[in-house]
Amino acid sequence: MTSAYVHGYHPRESERLRDQAGTLVELLHSDTSYPAGSTVLEAGCGVGAQTVTLARNSPGARITSVDISADSLKEAKAKVDAAGFTNVQFRQADIFALPFDPESFDHVFVCFVLEHLQRPAEALLALKKLLKPGGSITVIEGDHGSTYFHPDSPAARGAIQCLVKLQQAAGGNALIGRQLYPLLVEAGFDAVHVSPRMVYVDSSRPDLADGFTRKTFTAMIKGIRGSAISSGLIEPESFDAGVDDLYRTTESDGVFCYTFFKGVGERQ
Ligand SMILES: C[S@@+](CC[C@H](N)C(=O)[O-])C[C@H]1O[C@@H](n2cnc3c(N)ncnc32)[C@H](O)[C@@H]1O
Repeated sequence: MTSAYVHGYHPRESERLRDQAGTLVELLHSDTSYPAGSTVLEAGCGVGAQTVTLARNSPGARITSVDISADSLKEAKAKVDAAGFTNVQFRQADIFALPFDPESFDHVFVCFVLEHLQRPAEALLALKKLLKPGGSITVIEGDHGSTYFHPDSPAARGAIQCLVKLQQAAGGNALIGRQLYPLLVEAGFDAVHVSPRMVYVDSSRPDLADGFTRKTFTAMIKGIRGSAISSGLIEPESFDAGVDDLYRTTESDGVFCYTFFKGVGERQ
């Protein structure tokens, strides 16, 4: 069973995930590469936004990328093919019913997926069973509660809170980044280490202002406008004012901050 996916599968969302991945490659992936010959499971690959980086950083590894959405997988495969990588195979599968034998992977990689699951702890247990002894898991998640900015704006905070509430209503958790350590430890992983990865954006970093503040974070908030209003969480005017204020943080005197969390653990 899965939770409703709050961001949906619209083409604009695919574009947003690609912008997000492109902007954050260095911050999130620079310390992830797998040895030649190792087997890697990417669980919840979506449209392949991270898959291309995984394939590039670990050219000798054999990567299996799964997602529950056949349409997303198609897009992911096209993206990986277009980039010329041949070390990835795709398979449609549910994380809670993965069609692999126990202990069949050396490494597992999960990015921006646990936040959408009703039972993230159970997902981690299921993924752990697929790891060989000594294998590693890497999990990357955001935490919308880590968002702060200048000029501060109650309207912008209100719009962000709508996403937190919608995701909660769908069974997910937009504040899961802060829970990675206890989740990994409770799932029985050893040597768990979580590192915060802060995105700091001011106008001296126009690429990040565009790629992250505008096209990733604010685009994500804009994407839930319809559901936030129709579910009675906010008035249209307040929501739109919040989005305007998020854009406002990309002006010359504006600042935007967000923290991702990257956790790694080992199976004994
Ligand atoms: C926010 S996207 C992240 C995609 C990709 N990892 C990335 O970082 O761009 C979350 C993905 O998890 C997938 N997903 C959600 N529940 C799933 C489940 N139970 N099994 C497999 N995939 C799932 C969704 O279809 C979606 O593609």
